[in-house]
Amino acid sequence: MPVITYVQHDGAEHRVTLPVGVSLMQGAISNNVPGIDADCGGACACATCHVYVDPAWMGRVGERGAMEASMLDFAEGVRETSRLACQIKIADEHDGLIVRLPEAQH
Ligand code: FES
Repeated sequence: MPVITYVQHDGAEHRVTLPVGVSLMQGAISNNVPGIDADCGGACACATCHVYVDPAWMGRVGERGAMEASMLDFAEGVRETSRLACQIKIADEHDGLIVRLPEAQH
């Protein structure tokens, strides 16, 4: 199963093993990784699951969807590497993925 590393804003790392098919957001919530609020429960309607994908991994997590891109307009500190974690479904090819969390979810 893929091992994913979530890096908090303060640099603290949480390395978790996730089953294929869960979302990057679900993986954080079910492993008590702080920093992802996920207020809408994964419906791509809140932008409180904002993460920064490590640049080396951008090609393997796919592109933002249209709805995701418009929701990111409501997030602060959006960068080229910004994604909504509920919109990334974990696959075998994500083993080793590193994502960083923003200072806050707004
Ligand atoms: S959990 Fe609400 S947009 Fe991802």
